[in-house]
Amino acid sequence: MKKIKGIILAGGKGTRLYPLTKVTNKHLLPIAGEPMIYYPLRSLTSAGIKDIMIITGVEHSSGITSMLGSGKENGCNITYRVQDRPDGIGGALKLCKDFVGDSSCVVILGDNIFKEDLQKHINTFQAGTDDCMLFFKRVPDPRRYGVGIFDDDKLLEVEEKPDKPKTNLACVGIYFYTNEVFDVVDQVKPSGRGEYEVTSINNVFVKNGKCSYAILDDWWSDAGTMNSYHKTNRAIFEDGGGG
Ligand code: TTP
Repeated sequence: MKKIKGIILAGGKGTRLYPLTKVTNKHLLPIAGEPMIYYPLRSLTSAGIKDIMIITGVEHSSGITSMLGSGKENGCNITYRVQDRPDGIGGALKLCKDFVGDSSCVVILGDNIFKEDLQKHINTFQAGTDDCMLFFKRVPDPRRYGVGIFDDDKLLEVEEKPDKPKTNLACVGIYFYTNEVFDVVDQVKPSGRGEYEVTSINNVFVKNGKCSYAILDDWWSDAGTMNSYHKTNRAIFEDGGGG
């Protein structure tokens, strides 16, 4: 049975929420009266994950540590690492190798908010032999996301921000990996924009036949653009998250 640790990625530039992110970390912005990072943190702690690493960027890391401290108030043990350059989700993951050790990990993007209870998915992943588990959700605007391509039920590839998406199933910002991910991250080359892209990492597992997936039952939101930030706030204020 795989042991599981948690990782929240709270680095990045936050340019799409500028100027809100000029003097603070995106993940401290309020969502329905709580700092954004409380949501991914709660997703992990409520699934019983207590050992959590948070990656921040250089600029506003002190705000994150002041907000969360050791994690005691939130019922967990937090370890922090600073990502010197926002070189992508893969770059952030590279910093987590020693923390994860011989465990597996649940990685959540700090601006992705889930209503889904992760426990049942973690149980499935822990009991299985796959090295990666991805999650998809039907969206009206798939071109913004990595999009799943399937043959019947078999996942063939995740296509990054396609002009002509073949499905409307977006790959959402939560990923389960065994520690194999650290070998895979080292194989991946930076993209044209100089980032180690999570889609490239995930596609290595898909191609090797070591990736399973699930479609989320519940509401999810990526709060990283002005429009989606506003919609996320409204959805949580009005009905606790998309009904
Ligand atoms: P993005 O929203 O893709 O990037 P960003 O946060 O830099 O925002 P923008 O595109 O508006 O400039 O990142 C998704 C999540 O991943 C976000 O919550 C922050 C995290 N992240 C890191 O931790 N390190 C990184 O190098 C990057 C690019 C993102």
